[in-house]
Amino acid sequence: MLLNFTFHNPTKIYFGKKSLDNLTPELADYGETVLLTYGKNAVKAIGLYDQVIAILKDAGKKVIELSGVMPNPTYAKLMEGVKLVKDHNVDLILAVGGGSVIDCAKGISVSAYCEEDPFETYWLQYKGLANKIVPVASILTMVGTGSEMNGGSVITHEEKKIKASRVFSADVYPKFSILNPEYTFPVPRYQMVSGVFDIMSHLMEQYFSGTDNNTTDYIIESLFKSSIDNLRAALKNPEDYESRSNLMWNATLALNTLTGLSKRQDWQVHMIEHQLGAYTDCAHGMGLAAISLPYYRLIYPDGLDKFVRFATEIWGVSSEGKTKEVIAEEGIDAMERFLKECGIVTNLRDLGATKEMLPKIAESTFILSGGYKKLKRDDILGILNACF
Ligand code: NZQ
Ligand code: ZN
Repeated sequence: MLLNFTFHNPTKIYFGKKSLDNLTPELADYGETVLLTYGKNAVKAIGLYDQVIAILKDAGKKVIELSGVMPNPTYAKLMEGVKLVKDHNVDLILAVGGGSVIDCAKGISVSAYCEEDPFETYWLQYKGLANKIVPVASILTMVGTGSEMNGGSVITHEEKKIKASRVFSADVYPKFSILNPEYTFPVPRYQMVSGVFDIMSHLMEQYFSGTDNNTTDYIIESLFKSSIDNLRAALKNPEDYESRSNLMWNATLALNTLTGLSKRQDWQVHMIEHQLGAYTDCAHGMGLAAISLPYYRLIYPDGLDKFVRFATEIWGVSSEGKTKEVIAEEGIDAMERFLKECGIVTNLRDLGATKEMLPKIAESTFILSGGYKKLKRDDILGILNACF
């Protein structure tokens, strides 16, 4: 049964090799001042920065810049952007980069005119948006988060040691996002596989919940299989447009609300990873991969039929003569082999964690109840120890 739902995603996507051509006409809808946000080196190294600046200048825009947005963007960085928006009366925030740059742009958008402490208001207390926001648009250079077509903004408060996620309403979604798969060719292998596991994790967080026969689950299975095949192809040839383009669109679809429609959802792996990230600053997808294996091995008995389906439909595990438990375990084993094959990190030490951090991570993790098993603090510590 499909639960009742409303599907409305307002982000306009321009996809393909010539998609940057759409920037000029889109800019006509916004005022004169553009805050251009980007990361450390990549956008300049791939020549995109020069192209975007030229387009903005030709369109008569006044360009203000916020550079150096780091992976796992910090609240302090967000507040630098807030100051720029207020000082220059910015009309559009154009984020050029990966999920971190886009998340930071959305964070600046909602925080600039917030009269209270924005982190407390929006990321901790989850209050509804009650102030003016600045429109955001994006040019994507790194695949994984889906931030280019959703309302998510994940911000790390370094002093509080909290990496908090907030999903804002449709007003905060990028107004338009430009997706040229060629921009992702130079993404380092480590980042690429991390991003693709992020796609897979988004799919699993939405898949492993509920027991209904739901069309959304069929969509998830297709995207998962496409991500496996296309990651293998992209690892063989990073400049293979076909696989890079499929991965790029998979990532967008995996978290633009389509694959969560009409379903309960889990998101516990993400909650643990976020606190792991707050302590280690690890690459998001790598943290998810390490946590996923012990997490799913712990919870599969509570969602046995779905884990059997995962094993047979996605990993091709044969069910002949086996118990459901064995089939489910073989599915998780197959995923583990795939992670190793692709060089995806599966232990926390390689991600910068120390034994002393683990209780603090477990203690500060948000516990959700949408998955097959509601965790206790000891379960989380057990998961962290198991992948340490
Ligand atoms: O800083 P630069 O030089 O730009 O380098 C970046 C960065 O070091 C590099 N990169 C990006 N494009 C490149 C490139 N290198 C070479 N060539 C290119 N074309 O990649 C590195 C990682 O970038 P980042 O933006 O951090 O990666 P990602 O897209 O994985 O974003 C991760 C952040 O998004 C959050 C994560 O928690 C994390 O903070 N998430 C956001 C979500 C959302 N908005 O819905 C959901 C996700 O679950 C996730 O939590
Ligand atoms: Zn994620």
